[in-house]
Amino acid sequence: MRIIILTSYPQMFPGSLGHSVIGNALSNKKFDLEIVDLHKFGVDQRGSIDDEPFGGGPGMVIRPDVVENAMNSISLKKTNFVKVFLTPSGKRLTQENLKNLSKYNEMVILCGRFEGVDQRAIEILGFQEVSIGDYVLSGGEIAAQVLVEGCIRLIPGVLGHPQSLLEESFSNNLLEYPHYTRPRVWEDKKGNKHEVPEVLVSGHHEKIGKWRKDKSIERTKNLRPDLLKKG
Ligand code: 6GU
Repeated sequence: MRIIILTSYPQMFPGSLGHSVIGNALSNKKFDLEIVDLHKFGVDQRGSIDDEPFGGGPGMVIRPDVVENAMNSISLKKTNFVKVFLTPSGKRLTQENLKNLSKYNEMVILCGRFEGVDQRAIEILGFQEVSIGDYVLSGGEIAAQVLVEGCIRLIPGVLGHPQSLLEESFSNNLLEYPHYTRPRVWEDKKGNKHEVPEVLVSGHHEKIGKWRKDKSIERTKNLRPDLLKKG
């Protein structure tokens, strides 16, 4: 997969994408990351990339001609690409969307900053508008890293234990069950002892499976009842 990120803060990359599982995938060329600095496509004598919003209001808006010039600097293959504009006013990202997005050969990600990007550029150049959740960040750069990490880990061969993809939260509209490791009895610094749930050390695989399923449902009921309705 080839990922191209259009941003006015190129120094924010690779950022988290240079570490851990995704950092390894990057080093091993499982995907390709190109960062395009919008400032290189500034217009007028000052090289501006943004201007005041028509109709008034706070903040600055990225100019459509700047986005067009930046897009013309990258050559996309004719087939199998997707363009995503990251904005809190986009469609909310889900695990299902990530699965679909991870199948493209090329993904262009435009990071919003300031008040946003001229809507004509979004529509004419064919960007899907995506938000990573119902809260507001100052720019799309962190959101881009969320999107890329979420996609790349779904590419076959990126994760060490592909089995974990089947059981993880959201894969079946349930939150994942809780995990425990050694010590079996943990004595905290106050002297209180905390045991691991007995069934997990029983060696009884069927019972463990049932316990985990029950815990998944219980957690989902308590923390994300909206997911059960989707069922
Ligand atoms: Cl994609 N961008 C910004 N700036 N804030 C967000 C977001 C994106 N998704 C949620 N909040």
